Amino acid sequence: MKDAIVATLRQNRDLSDDELRELIGTDRHDAALIRAADEVRREHYGDAVYLRGLIEITSYCKNNCLYCGLRAGNRRAERYRLSREEILACCEEGYALGYRTFVLQGGEDPAFTDDLICELVAQIKRAHPDCAVTLSLGEKPRESYERYFTAGADRYLLRHETADPAHYAKLHPAEMRFENRRRCLYDLKEIGYQVGAGFMVGSPYQTTDHLIADLRFLQELQPDMIGIGPYLTHRDTPFHDKENGSLALSLRMLAILRLMFPYALLPSTTALGTVDPAGRELGLKAGGNVVMPNLSPVGVRKKYAIYDNKICTGEESAQCRDCLERRVRSAGYRIVTDRGDVKRTRGRG
Ligand code: 5AD
Ligand code: SF4
Ligand code: FES
Repeated sequence: MKDAIVATLRQNRDLSDDELRELIGTDRHDAALIRAADEVRREHYGDAVYLRGLIEITSYCKNNCLYCGLRAGNRRAERYRLSREEILACCEEGYALGYRTFVLQGGEDPAFTDDLICELVAQIKRAHPDCAVTLSLGEKPRESYERYFTAGADRYLLRHETADPAHYAKLHPAEMRFENRRRCLYDLKEIGYQVGAGFMVGSPYQTTDHLIADLRFLQELQPDMIGIGPYLTHRDTPFHDKENGSLALSLRMLAILRLMFPYALLPSTTALGTVDPAGRELGLKAGGNVVMPNLSPVGVRKKYAIYDNKICTGEESAQCRDCLERRVRSAGYRIVTDRGDVKRTRGRG
């Protein structure tokens, strides 16, 4: 049976706010939506799933996002910083396992100075010229982003979290503002990075209209990557008694993103795999085409606790690689080990 709203979204890569409200606010369209998302993903990317090796370089953070276990105000968080040698060793191990993208992710840690970040990027690129380096280190001045890019960084991930300034203010302390997040994302794009934005699904106080605002913001920004996953609570944050985001709504949003942004790189995230044991497989079947196995040293993994019950904290890098390979295959897709650059960035057609 044909679903008119889903067909329109697929055709136009867009819907009115009222149509989006119907699509996001009910489960009536889920089956048709997810089927269409998988068809569109196969039209543009076939059965390919791209691998990104995630290295969590520091659990220190000067920020105080209310939802995150690494917030500066969490005195119970265990803090660590990887040394330059440890980070390079993770890349070596990752390269041998077939990774051709390394994602350096961390809290906003002043100990990772611009000089240090630039040296790290340059060293990784020198050791592995065939690899892409992705940074995910938060909000920085434009000049810093320029320096990392000159040092060789290819991509930058910075989720916008929510595109509604009032909602943003409920999730962050007063000194963090949506306007600055937006400025960072546009700076990154202008500099020439492949840019990733994204948001949490089911974050506290989120409404359907906030999700629509997220989609509108992404339509304006036209990022190359869009990372989403359910909000998951952490016991030592001000949101400790809030509910987790749902699997169903996360999959619905992923499928909508695939239809709106047919060429986007959409990860099936660790948060999806945490909210449900089959979450990442279901994410791939709903339009996801990227997985990001953990490459951090096993000794620090439990300490990078942005939410409770995070998966993959006890496994070795090779185990995560094999585990995900099996999961991707069981979902009906195939891991590819090239750099996996975006096939086509902005625009329609
Ligand atoms: N639940 C889900 N995702 C979270 N993030 C941070 N805290 C949480 C949480 N409690 C996400 C944010 C951030 C990314 C690195 O992790 O979207 O950008
Ligand atoms: Fe720091 Fe990022 Fe956590 Fe915010 S979400 S507290 S910036 S690690
Ligand atoms: Fe890490 Fe399955 S991917 S254990």
